[in-house]
Amino acid sequence: MSTALRYLMCAPSHYEVDYVINPWMEGNVHRSSREQAERQWQGLYQLLTSLAQVQLVEPAPGWPDMVFTANAGLVLDRNVVLSRFFHPERQGEEPYFRSWFEKQGYVVCELPEKIAFEGAGDALFDREGRWLWAGYGFRSSLESHPYLAKYLDSEVLSLRLVDGRFYHLDTCFCPLADGYLLYYPPAFDEISNRLIESRVHPDKRIVVGEADAVNFACNAVNVGRTVIVNQVTAGLAARLDSCGFAVRQTPLTEFLKAGGAAKCLTLRLTEPRTVELPQVQTTARTVELRGHLLDSALMTEVIDLIQKGGASFQIEDFKVGLRRQDTSYTRLRITAPSTDTLESVLTQLIDRGAALPEQAERDAELQPVNQQGVAPQDFYVTNIYPTEVRIAGQWVLAANQRMDGAIVVDPETASARCVLLRDVRVGDQVVCGVDGIRTRHQKARPDRSEREEFAFMASGVSSERRVELVVEQVAWQLRRLRQQGGKAVVVAGPVVIHTGGGLHLATLIREGYVQALLGGNAIAVHDIEQAFHGTSLGVDLQRGVVIQGGHRHHLKTINLIRGCGSIRQAVEQGVLRSGIFYECVRAGVPFSLAGSIRDDGPLPDTEMDLIEAQADYARLLKGAEMILMLSSMLHSIGVGNMTPAGVKMVCVDINPAVVTKLADRGSVESTGVVTDVGLFLSLLVRQLHYLGN
Ligand code: ARG
Repeated sequence: MSTALRYLMCAPSHYEVDYVINPWMEGNVHRSSREQAERQWQGLYQLLTSLAQVQLVEPAPGWPDMVFTANAGLVLDRNVVLSRFFHPERQGEEPYFRSWFEKQGYVVCELPEKIAFEGAGDALFDREGRWLWAGYGFRSSLESHPYLAKYLDSEVLSLRLVDGRFYHLDTCFCPLADGYLLYYPPAFDEISNRLIESRVHPDKRIVVGEADAVNFACNAVNVGRTVIVNQVTAGLAARLDSCGFAVRQTPLTEFLKAGGAAKCLTLRLTEPRTVELPQVQTTARTVELRGHLLDSALMTEVIDLIQKGGASFQIEDFKVGLRRQDTSYTRLRITAPSTDTLESVLTQLIDRGAALPEQAERDAELQPVNQQGVAPQDFYVTNIYPTEVRIAGQWVLAANQRMDGAIVVDPETASARCVLLRDVRVGDQVVCGVDGIRTRHQKARPDRSEREEFAFMASGVSSERRVELVVEQVAWQLRRLRQQGGKAVVVAGPVVIHTGGGLHLATLIREGYVQALLGGNAIAVHDIEQAFHGTSLGVDLQRGVVIQGGHRHHLKTINLIRGCGSIRQAVEQGVLRSGIFYECVRAGVPFSLAGSIRDDGPLPDTEMDLIEAQADYARLLKGAEMILMLSSMLHSIGVGNMTPAGVKMVCVDINPAVVTKLADRGSVESTGVVTDVGLFLSLLVRQLHYLGN
């Protein structure tokens, strides 16, 4: 028996499942047997005393989870970092554990208030004492890790837990003697798994399957070559045996009902120690956010983003705007396990209007382009919002704002512009990293009626009233733009023709409501086929029936226009005499047709060089104040990508997925309506005529 080794346990005299703070406790409230628990606890206690010295802390009534001494704190030599429980249900245990440690003469370290840390349940020393594995994600916060590094003078490796069943690190991760590791990889995120793999040799990784994991096989007490567990499968027992470990199973099912087993019921008081330089693995930065943080749900979005991005946060300051028109302010400290993670999270926050505090402001970091059409890898990816970069102490607004570009700075003229990757040239100075970049978001909160009725629709067919409201709004805007000489652009797919909307779109063009039309090969072919034959892809639009051999109409149409030279020439030669494209030519409304791999023909007007097509679209979109996207996913998303914030976008599609997709692509400023596009156009024309000039 190794007398040097000591553990702390707490008898289950007051043990109960009294509340639910982890998934194991669900359905188990008051369902555990005290007697059985006593028996099982004794089994573990006896086993452990045969291998090590076990000290006891007096159980306190009213604190049923106190048996789980692993959560008392984290001990190294004479130091203990006390736990600060995440859930109030367990916070009352803190003073009992504290006084035990104090009586034993430990140096008690306390984390700042509000930084959750659940002791050895979430922090496990490598058995060789080389570093500390620390978990976060459910109970302990990432912010506690730098403190652990400092108090215990250890290297801390942060692991993010992602499966709620394995809410404490010790439920799915157990370092064993001789550098072995028993663990359940799916409980961790990708980055954490890579970190584990980088530190533990494949031969030393004992991976357990779900069947073992849910029996708390990883919640093991490892004393020398003995591994004490609740239960393991024969396969795992054999694997452990082959690695030189003797498995001792002792049933702890009563404690599983509270989400704990062998390891949770013990706290190791003696840890191996190596002298290594402290190394804090986490990095942190502060950001500030101003705006309608609560009423626009920005705050929740930001928090979600930080957590999904693998970082964590602390709210350092929060001033809530009290009246509806008031904005709120918050300062957040973001902590991440690596610089890369921190930067990727910060970039996303900057996209949402976050700024680094003034005193931390630096000029944007510039790196030169070394290869034509290739930006430095660390380049800042632009979004749709007006973006400013800090050059020589001055904030400069980037020109040509669009998403998915890079920002090129000319230090001489102190100017900046958004550039597509393919357009960067050797020697260009590109903005990299996160410093000296801020995006401007509209300060004003949208007006009530717009917010509620005109706001983006996530899914489902829009209600009749909603369609009507969107039609009213769009008509109002189109009319205003026409009066003021503004610019409205329509992006349309062939469905406009199939649904009988061609006639109405033609009317809009004829009457001067549309200043440019963007589409692909198909809409033009279908529109012209309809003008020639009354069919669209061979379907008679009046009667809705398939015409015998009608598909040939489609190809004959293409052929005819090819013969004329172009759509314009077909109109000028008197061949084409009605339809959307006829009206465009007549009214001098420019159009651009972007090709694709599936195009028939194509028409002579269809641009098959996509780089050219993108440039042409961008040219026609310049200065647009409103864009109507009618049943065309591909072209609409393309347009969304080119469009800066502030342009009103309305997306009409019968498929909710398309409407949502446009929002997901970052074109968040669009309004979606899920309805038949032919119907929408007919209502729109009716409303415009109703409004009159
Ligand atoms: N019911 C306790 C809780 O949810 C169980 C703690 C288990 N302890 C552990 N180290 N995993 O906090």
